[in-house]
Amino acid sequence: MNSHIPRPASDYPPGGDAFPHRHLIGIAQLTPWEISYILDAAEQWVEMNRSGAAKHDDALAGLTIINAFFENSTRTLLSFEIAGKRLGADVVNMNAAQSSLKKGETLIDTAMTLNAMRADAIVIRHASSGAVQLIADKVDCPVLNAGDGRHEHPTQALLDALTIRRNKGRVEGLTIAICGDVLHSRVARSNILALTLLGNEVRVVAPATLLPPAIERMHVQVFTDMDEGIKGADVVMMLRLQNERMDGAYLPSAREYHELYGLTPKRLELAKEDAIIMHPGPMNRGVEIDSIVADHPTRSVVTQQVEMGVAVRMACLDILTRRKRKVSGWN
Ligand code: NCD
Repeated sequence: MNSHIPRPASDYPPGGDAFPHRHLIGIAQLTPWEISYILDAAEQWVEMNRSGAAKHDDALAGLTIINAFFENSTRTLLSFEIAGKRLGADVVNMNAAQSSLKKGETLIDTAMTLNAMRADAIVIRHASSGAVQLIADKVDCPVLNAGDGRHEHPTQALLDALTIRRNKGRVEGLTIAICGDVLHSRVARSNILALTLLGNEVRVVAPATLLPPAIERMHVQVFTDMDEGIKGADVVMMLRLQNERMDGAYLPSAREYHELYGLTPKRLELAKEDAIIMHPGPMNRGVEIDSIVADHPTRSVVTQQVEMGVAVRMACLDILTRRKRKVSGWN
């Protein structure tokens, strides 16, 4: 399904079918082959990003990318900005706090406005699930979802898959425990979709109050006991407690949560000896993860995830603008 040794992107057959989608809304729209295609394309940028050159390519020269973030972000916004600039594009960040949305403009009107600016790609983060699709339906250029409500965060799942593949040599046949606030997490949703699709055993580990109803239908094993859930795992992926999305009392206290579900050095011993530790950030140290674990020099891959984020976003921007750039074989 997914080769252990990444193929260079050039090995794929040319033609518009290589990536048939106009937008990147969610992992749910992708096949395993398309996921591998993006990961392989990202590999080439990893090395180039390490070479330190400010700009690596002029592939996107003359194109304008708008980052429209209606919700806070540090790493996702920055890495999309860096990704666009390294490919030679003009990148404009829309400050949602100053946008007309705050003045009561509808999302459709905002979409029409963005469209009238003739952007070549729009990257959107929004607090409402489905908002990105709504805008994608109204604009003429490719739209990339940088996180919509509790729905999806596809580039995060892609960068996580790339990080796992680089550390484990493969991203299939692994036992992966996704632990914490699964209910409110678009990161969890996109990762469950991607990692099950690629043929891994995915476990979700959370208190019952932080599990979505009927989560088993996503082909995951469900654990409410953290020790049981991470036993023998190859990958332990921790999630932030998304307090801003909680509209009630889901937990007795942060201290008790840490006691029962925090990733401590002792608990980590239950996972495989060479298990890697992941977190999409931002981390709540001392709540879902202890600092000593988060900063573990060999086991934690948290900063690698950030690094892979730039490469994956370069690959996505490149692939989705190929039709526009009339790259041969893309129609
Ligand atoms: C996540 C997000 O915003 O969905 N962060 C990220 O993109 N790296 C997760 C979170 O906010 O906890």
